[in-house]
Amino acid sequence: MLVNTKEMFKQAYDGGYAVGAFNVNNMEIIQGITTAGAKRRAPLILQVSSGARKYANHEYLVKLVEAALEINDLPIALHLDHGDTFELCKSCVDGGFTSVMIDGSHHSYEDNVKLTRQVVEYAHDHGVTVEGELGRLAGIEDAVNVSAQDASYTNPAEVQDFVERTGVDSLAIAIGTSHGAYKFKPGQTPQLRFDILEEVSKRLPGFPIVLHGASSVIPEYVKMINQYGGEMPDAIGIPEDMLRQAAGMAVCKINIDSDLRLAMTAAIRKHFAENPTHFDPRQYLSPARALIQELVEHKITKVLGCENKA
Ligand code: G3H
Ligand code: 13P
Ligand code: ZN
Repeated sequence: MLVNTKEMFKQAYDGGYAVGAFNVNNMEIIQGITTAGAKRRAPLILQVSSGARKYANHEYLVKLVEAALEINDLPIALHLDHGDTFELCKSCVDGGFTSVMIDGSHHSYEDNVKLTRQVVEYAHDHGVTVEGELGRLAGIEDAVNVSAQDASYTNPAEVQDFVERTGVDSLAIAIGTSHGAYKFKPGQTPQLRFDILEEVSKRLPGFPIVLHGASSVIPEYVKMINQYGGEMPDAIGIPEDMLRQAAGMAVCKINIDSDLRLAMTAAIRKHFAENPTHFDPRQYLSPARALIQELVEHKITKVLGCENKA
């Protein structure tokens, strides 16, 4: 069933687990994720960035998700990732999404409140839930490239006012995660500001928090990519024990895109290295889809804690 995130997050908060929000761009990715969710009986969020929408077309992605729902009986939210304008959010609400993010984190605080409030009013009238963002992550977001110098942690003193004035259903915060495969410098020990998360949840009791940039950049995939002809520099992601800790706290949604990209690329590189004469896309997309399924099952069972919660 296509659902919004309201009940999903309430159960995740009360149950001390998080729901995985996986970025989707094509049929094989949607199949790999939803087959994993069905096998592990886990609720899922399938999220679409504006880049994904440009690549695959809104209608294709909605229909693919609808097809996945006909095959797998699961609670799935179809979510806009990093919406940057009211118009984009409105178009996703009108076009069948059940959840949207309005990312006003690059605006001034007051402009962020204003824009987010506008999206909430429209979305709530249509039964769609809204995620807002306070604080800035380093890394590449859809329309916005936030450099490490411009990144800033969420200020816990602002969260209560922001949530009250905007009416958002969940809030993405910046505690040291970042987008992409290069989250920390080589040799650096990954650290997250759990004190900020703790302080935010004290000020917003029972309120769902979202972590963006939460891929672990699974070393096995980076190794596989380089073993089969890739040239990725050392890449460090968010350690799994930190994500488990966050999932047991107020974090109800954990965003994962880079790990899916790495899995897909690793599987395809391996396939071509071992089968250099192949040219049928089904031959190399099958192992890619299978590795995505394996990755998502791993996240559900070992990181998010949402197995058997569907
Ligand atoms: O946060 C960004 C997501 O990883 C989506 O990336 O804009 O390249 O689709 P994308
Ligand atoms: P990663 O790049 O860590 O997978 O983060 C994805 C994300 O936050 C999508 O919004
Ligand atoms: Zn993000």
